[in-house]
Amino acid sequence: MTKSSSLKSEDKQLTSSIPEELDPFRMPDHIAVIMDGNGRWAKAKGLPRSVGHSAGVDALKNTLRLCSDWGVGALTVYAFSTENWSRPLEEVGFLMTLFKRVLKKELQTLRAQQVRISFLGDLVKLPNELQDLIIQATELTSGNTGIKFNVCTNYGGRRELVNAAKNLAIRSLNGELDPSLIDENIFAAELLTANEVDPDLLIRTSGERRISNFLLWQLAYSEIYITETLWPDFDRNSLLHALSDYQSRCRRFGGLNQISPKEEDFQS
Ligand code: IPE
Ligand code: IPE
Ligand code: MG
Repeated sequence: MTKSSSLKSEDKQLTSSIPEELDPFRMPDHIAVIMDGNGRWAKAKGLPRSVGHSAGVDALKNTLRLCSDWGVGALTVYAFSTENWSRPLEEVGFLMTLFKRVLKKELQTLRAQQVRISFLGDLVKLPNELQDLIIQATELTSGNTGIKFNVCTNYGGRRELVNAAKNLAIRSLNGELDPSLIDENIFAAELLTANEVDPDLLIRTSGERRISNFLLWQLAYSEIYITETLWPDFDRNSLLHALSDYQSRCRRFGGLNQISPKEEDFQS
């Protein structure tokens, strides 16, 4: 899905916690984040990389809370890529244990905050105990009414596209689908993000200027914001800065005029 439902005036009072520096009518519906720089953060402090990953969890909890409070509809974060398996065994093992520990510890908070969590990626390759926790967390929060929180774990954009193409080919061979009818909507419905709006804003921390195999299809028209801040240092001010920058952008979607979310309401 490509279009967002922007804030309507009657919703404005519900999001009174939006900082006054921001325009409540121009908040992104969906923010994606490449949480990068944990290792460098730890190294700069003379600490092992694992400490950086643990500190990154605090930054994530804070960011999720702020996005939820400020009325952002969905937050999608890159937690572990299909390429991250190539890191030393010790680091991969630490990350898997960290994911388990955090998920166990935070489940009640997620429920209380009405967060709807889901995990995008090739989950069967994850440790069994983590898979069980993922299923449990997804089920227990599926009826919640708050922010959608997608955690990309063993996620790769290319793998997602290949799987979508493979599924369409199988359905065509089975006679369920006329391949000549495949269009962007049918293709997008095969992706892990089916039913989600595309991210309006992509934030990458730690100054790297690349996508690193994240949401290759979905980021087609996302605004990109890169900050030198390392992920564990990403705080309220950092998010505020990213959102202010986003709200100053002119989104043209290939057209000529700026389309503001307000105008889009009238066009839809
Ligand atoms: C991002 O931080 C977290 C994961 C990829 C799991 P990094 O671990 O990539 O940190 P840097 O880039 O080495 O500083
Ligand atoms: C991207 O960060 C993946 C995650 C944040 C989970 P990386 O640190 O793996 O990306 P590269 O290797 O610098 O491109
Ligand atoms: Mg990195």
